[in-house]
Amino acid sequence: MARKKIAFIGSGNVGATCAHLCFLGGLGDIALYDIIDGLPQGKALDMLESAPVLGVDANVTGSTDIRAIEGADCCVVTSGSPRKPGMSRDDLLKINAKVMNDVGVAIKNHAPNAFVIVVTNPLDAMVTQMKRVTGFPKGRVAGQAGVLDSARYRTFLAMELGVSVQSVQAMVLGGHGDDMVPVRSYTTVGGVPIERYVTARRLDEIESRTRQGGGEIVNLMKTSSYYAAGAAAYKMVEAYLRDRKEMMPCAAYLEGEYGVQGLYAGVPVIVGAGGVERIVEIALTEAEKKAFASSVAHVRELVEAMDKVLAA
Ligand code: 2OP
Repeated sequence: MARKKIAFIGSGNVGATCAHLCFLGGLGDIALYDIIDGLPQGKALDMLESAPVLGVDANVTGSTDIRAIEGADCCVVTSGSPRKPGMSRDDLLKINAKVMNDVGVAIKNHAPNAFVIVVTNPLDAMVTQMKRVTGFPKGRVAGQAGVLDSARYRTFLAMELGVSVQSVQAMVLGGHGDDMVPVRSYTTVGGVPIERYVTARRLDEIESRTRQGGGEIVNLMKTSSYYAAGAAAYKMVEAYLRDRKEMMPCAAYLEGEYGVQGLYAGVPVIVGAGGVERIVEIALTEAEKKAFASSVAHVRELVEAMDKVLAA
């Protein structure tokens, strides 16, 4: 059986980190694309040269020609401008919406059967635009944000309690912005509700750090997260290509679920060979519902702002 092909549209830090994880995980052949000449070619060759050491059989190619994505089974989209210090995710709206238009057309033409994972910020607006431009069914266009945000929440809780990150289960829903919603009522440590271990006040602080998690990294290294962001995108690629039917929070297109119509937002979904196979509706507390609605309202504003920019 032929190996699967994973295309990375954008081969900067996040794209290349995710590609490397897919390579190490033996998920398939890797095609790196970028507009910066030399970057995708160099990273591809470098990765390929690690194959004999690691015992990985995969083809890795790099190109500035978008036709390199031809026939990809999965496309990970990270292209666009990264977030710079002092820049909100929303500031990126203008530049990156236009990038999604070009990339979306290319995916539609060259990888018409791919599952598309959008990582570019502001995430919820960019994934919306990607779905519009490709015209793909909603299950084949998803956004990566919830896996990353939930990983941050889990990391901070594990640090707080001195337990394995694997013992902490948590979900962050809503938009990938400063009003994302860590869902405290479903957060458990070894199956025990988090509120039995950590005070409400301390949880407020940890959740606030989670919401600011992307900015904290940007302030430290003057560029966006890529180890955690790349790993989060990898998790989605892996669930799709291995048909794991894994439940994870992703930006998915809502048509009435959670009371939201015609918008992408972070919700728990099942990812398998069908892409986003199902949206899982969980009962939220009144406070969580309110926070989710407010986060989604912000996403709607973002999409409206994007539409204005694109129409201008
Ligand atoms: C983050 O949260 C860059 O949005 C990305 O780190």
